[in-house]
Amino acid sequence: MNRALPDVQLRVPTDEDAFAWHRIFADPEVMEFHGGRAAELSVYEELTARQRRHDAEYGFCLWTMVDSEGDVLGFTGAQPWPHAWGPTGQIEIGWRLGRAHWGKGYVTAAARTTLERVRAAGVDHVVAMVNARNERSIAVTRRLGMELAERFTLPASDQEGHRYRLAL
Ligand SMILES: CC(C)(COP(=O)(O)OP(=O)(O)OC[C@H]1O[C@@H](n2cnc3c(N)ncnc32)[C@H](O)[C@@H]1OP(=O)(O)O)[C@@H](O)C(=O)NCCC(=O)NCCS
Repeated sequence: MNRALPDVQLRVPTDEDAFAWHRIFADPEVMEFHGGRAAELSVYEELTARQRRHDAEYGFCLWTMVDSEGDVLGFTGAQPWPHAWGPTGQIEIGWRLGRAHWGKGYVTAAARTTLERVRAAGVDHVVAMVNARNERSIAVTRRLGMELAERFTLPASDQEGHRYRLAL
């Protein structure tokens, strides 16, 4: 791929970003692999507050993506795997973008920056946990050069999940 990646800034999520995430993710297409419907504002208040703690502790988190106009596009970044099942103790990279911003390379750009920052923080590998039907997300893992490390059953849905891995 020789196209220039778009300009995207990454910031630690602010209190206000909880409202922005809630607004732009309230879309069945965005939530297709996250329960299928919009999440409550309180979910994003908790999620953004948790990311501020991760930034303070590890120097990385799921960052708010902002375009050159200052508009919030979504989030991309890294965090300790947050569930009791799966790759406990490992660092996952993740992404979610408002529907209007798909197809422009924003997440690939933000994920490349994420990998540089996480590598600089001393992390030796990252994982990405993706629903096997989530072709757009799998395409991101491919653009980042991640390898399929495991197929498993997602506990919430009984659907197939993929664990992708990248050594840094
Ligand atoms: C998964 C998700 C983030 C992917 O978004 P995306 O816009 O397809 O991903 P990228 O930012 O990497 O952009 C790639 C697209 O931009 C295009 N693009 C334009 N310029 C580009 C460039 N310089 N480099 C790479 N891609 C570029 C690509 O062709 C591709 O579009 P296409 O698939 O229509 O061909 C998005 O679909 C999403 O938010 N889904 C809902 C939430 C979700 O499922 N999250 C993941 C959970 S595991």
